[in-house]
Amino acid sequence: MSVEVARLCKASMESAKVGTEEDKLQNGRDFYKFFFTNFPDLRVYFKGAEKFTADDVQKSERFEKQGQRLLLAVHILAETYANQEVFKAYVRETINRHRVYKMDPSLWLAFFTVFTMYLETKTKLDEETKKAWAEMGKVFNEEAQTHLKNSNLPHV
Ligand code: HEM
Repeated sequence: MSVEVARLCKASMESAKVGTEEDKLQNGRDFYKFFFTNFPDLRVYFKGAEKFTADDVQKSERFEKQGQRLLLAVHILAETYANQEVFKAYVRETINRHRVYKMDPSLWLAFFTVFTMYLETKTKLDEETKKAWAEMGKVFNEEAQTHLKNSNLPHV
């Protein structure tokens, strides 16, 4: 049920807060440090940061900002999940904004595994919560692929 999935995802996002304080900014940097360290091949999409190490991310104003944008987007997913119409509209908007990066369409589902792994560096996730993120990823991905197809773009 979407209300329960939303509740669990929102609760786990308590450990990845956004904000202007240093600890909140660090949550965002930490996502990209984790991402680039564990999935270095995906740095290819980040122009000018293709060789960035975790240390480069830490010192980067670009990734301080991008970390907040990314975390805010995931908070919005969790906050809107109980309203599927709004959630799916936000998924489509996210896909539209990524069009220029020409990403492999399989990455939309993969993102949720990456994000769950990042969250696990911040807090202990129970099985129910992991299932909730997997469910959200499934719904996100279905809407993403449908939207890519309807936009005549590569999809899986
Ligand atoms: C921006 C890649 C998944 C939200 C970006 C940028 C890239 C990118 C290359 C430009 C940032 C820069 O170069 O400085 C990817 C890849 C993904 C992924 C490879 C999957 C593995 C997602 C997801 C969300 C998201 C699932 C939403 C929850 C954003 C936001 C921005 C952004 C909010 C800021 C720019 C904007 O809003 O248009 N992404 N992205 N990304 N991404 Fe992603």
